[in-house]
Amino acid sequence: MYHDTVLLQNIINELDIKQDGVYCDATLGGGSVSFEILKKLNKGVLISLDIDTDAIDYFKSEFKVKYSTNIDKNSFVFEDKTVNLVNENFSKLKEVIKDIQVNKLNGIVYDLGVSSFQIDNPKKGFSYMYDSNLDMRMDKRLKVTARDLINGLYEKELYNIFKIYSEEPFSKEIARNIVKRRKMKSIEKSSELVEIVRRSIRGQAYLYRHVSRIFQALRIKVNNELGVLSDSLLLLPDILESGGRVVFLTYHSGEDRIVKNYFLHNDNFISLYKKPVYPTEEEISKNRRARSAKMRVYEKK
Ligand SMILES: C[S@@+](CC[C@H](N)C(=O)[O-])C[C@H]1O[C@@H](n2cnc3c(N)ncnc32)[C@H](O)[C@@H]1O
Repeated sequence: MYHDTVLLQNIINELDIKQDGVYCDATLGGGSVSFEILKKLNKGVLISLDIDTDAIDYFKSEFKVKYSTNIDKNSFVFEDKTVNLVNENFSKLKEVIKDIQVNKLNGIVYDLGVSSFQIDNPKKGFSYMYDSNLDMRMDKRLKVTARDLINGLYEKELYNIFKIYSEEPFSKEIARNIVKRRKMKSIEKSSELVEIVRRSIRGQAYLYRHVSRIFQALRIKVNNELGVLSDSLLLLPDILESGGRVVFLTYHSGEDRIVKNYFLHNDNFISLYKKPVYPTEEEISKNRRARSAKMRVYEKK
């Protein structure tokens, strides 16, 4: 399976979909959210974005399987609904909808982070489970990989990335050992980084807890995940219709804080929940990824 979507039915219910509305799935991934939106539309418009071309290609192949329709274009009409697949960053949402000649949206979903497909694909270099090249770009148009950061940044910059994005307690030691090691030979593979973390945590248990924090911090930096989220939030007052909803699924405290703080004193929106919505224990037991998920929903006044 490409991706097991967390809180899928909650997302769809919260969007409160109008049949002829215009909706945006800002993070297409395996397409489950987009397919559910499509089912509810009649003469409506769906705009689905992903920075990873694999997600766009996968959606097209799944579309063929589900509806026995061969599509090769990124914009097409199906049963009176218009579907637009866009390989673009959601920080460019304003330009994207302008290009499609849409004025405002009735709802947007952000299901942030990486998909299971991306993590499980050794070529993308997100996981320490495979000995892969340290790439970590979701968008192949980006120029800088995790390998470039590890071999090119100052020790203090590496320390800041590990400390700020993942609150790794051994950030200092890990940054220092990366710099020491790369003086002998550049660091290319995930196994080399795992080995550096192993030596830096001085015999502590749960090596992979530390490793996964370091990998997550690098991924966030490579893809500027917090920066593009902040940029995209600023667009919302202009691109959402009055009464339109925006649903966020976050998996990282930094992401959640950015979303929460943006809406805290924003007079353009009301928050539909005082506290975030969490997946049930049952969902968490079936889908490990759900354990760190939080959903927040806002409505444009
Ligand atoms: C958690 S997955 C989404 C899963 C999807 N909701 C589903 O049901 O399968 C996140 C997806 O968002 C994409 N993505 C991450 N940041 C993005 C950004 N700034 N702009 C557009 N797509 C992004 C990733 O490439 C990934 O495919």
